[in-house]
Amino acid sequence: MYNRILRPLLFALPIEQAHRLALLLLRAVGWIPGGRWLVDKCCAEHDPALEREVFGRRFPNPVGLAAGFDRNGEAVRELGALGFGFVEVGTLTPRPQEGNPRPRIFRLPKDRAVVDRLGYPNRGLERAIQRLRRPRHGVIVGCNIGRNASTPPDEAAGDYLKLFRNLYQYADYFSVKVGCDNASNERSTYTRAYLLGILNPLFDFRRGQNQYRPILLKVSPDLTDEEADRVADILIETPLDGVVATDGTRSREGLRTSVEATDEIGPGRLGGAPLRQRALELVRRIHTRSGGAYPIIGVGGLMTPADVRAMLDAGADLVQIHTGLIYNGPGFVRDICRELLSYDGELSAMRAAEASMREEAAAAMPSADPGRTPGDDLSSSEPS
Ligand SMILES: Cc1cc2nc3c(=O)[nH]c(=O)nc-3n(C[C@H](O)[C@H](O)[C@H](O)COP(=O)(O)O)c2cc1C
Repeated sequence: MYNRILRPLLFALPIEQAHRLALLLLRAVGWIPGGRWLVDKCCAEHDPALEREVFGRRFPNPVGLAAGFDRNGEAVRELGALGFGFVEVGTLTPRPQEGNPRPRIFRLPKDRAVVDRLGYPNRGLERAIQRLRRPRHGVIVGCNIGRNASTPPDEAAGDYLKLFRNLYQYADYFSVKVGCDNASNERSTYTRAYLLGILNPLFDFRRGQNQYRPILLKVSPDLTDEEADRVADILIETPLDGVVATDGTRSREGLRTSVEATDEIGPGRLGGAPLRQRALELVRRIHTRSGGAYPIIGVGGLMTPADVRAMLDAGADLVQIHTGLIYNGPGFVRDICRELLSYDGELSAMRAAEASMREEAAAAMPSADPGRTPGDDLSSSEPS
């Protein structure tokens, strides 16, 4: 239904309007009595085999919605009914902000990609609290936090702490988004001093709380290997709980879309299929460098259920999708979950077969008898 009806309708609209319409339709589900229940029955895949225990939380399945879709936490329960195992809201900033001038999101259908330079428009902390304090019926919510564009970089830590402190009781985990504009070069934000300047006050605040809220760092796919290793080292050396890898990329390499077309679009972060390889590499690198001991949420270019499996194989504990949702529609979450179930099923069938083969082989082996030689065994087992 999405591919035949909804997608042509949404793709006929400018992408920002399509996004608003999609959110409105989702929220409408919540206004209809029994709407969420019905959507859940039609879309969500419930199976204990999908559940994952990550940073002390039990996720109903490993497939989350990436930041930037439900920026203000307007449709968290409805997204849960669609089958998402968790929803990351934001990027939130302390004060409301408009973001960059329009147009600021672009589809690249030939590449199954999207370029975004929204500049993190959102309604600010107060509005987010109003939304997130409502009952969520168990939907796990991460808050992606950033600084206002008008806050000077050397005062950024104050913005993060304000959001963290005020949202602490409403979020299940936090994702720290460094940098404030997806149209700009954020390289300088990955120095150890800058990152710790933001993270340390959050660790200090958390130490005084009764409840524990995991803190993850959302990283860019454009990090050099050295910067990626620095992130992994921070993971090992500080109370940082994990990473969300990755954000969109500034790279335009290897696209089918013409250079003229991408030049016309201008700067911005690209999400979707062309990002997949880099996101996988970065997840694998951080996973290996940190000894596989820290949770990673893998995101970037996951456009098919097989991509999701590859991301989990690369070391991710959970995954998130964004552009995949735009191109595949809401049924994508269920498709991924079913694929994971059938893969797990195949895996356990394979393991069971291996185990029974091992048992049969062990049963066929004669018990150890020092008085007999292998030759004796062979001749005795042969038919006369
Ligand atoms: C339209 C759009 C808006 C986004 N907004 C945000 C945002 O506000 N904060 C953030 O951390 N990431 C944002 N992202 C990045 C996504 O969360 C995700 O990391 C990235 O797009 C890679 O995943 P994908 O290939 O599945 O799209 C946005 C992405 C898109 C396409």
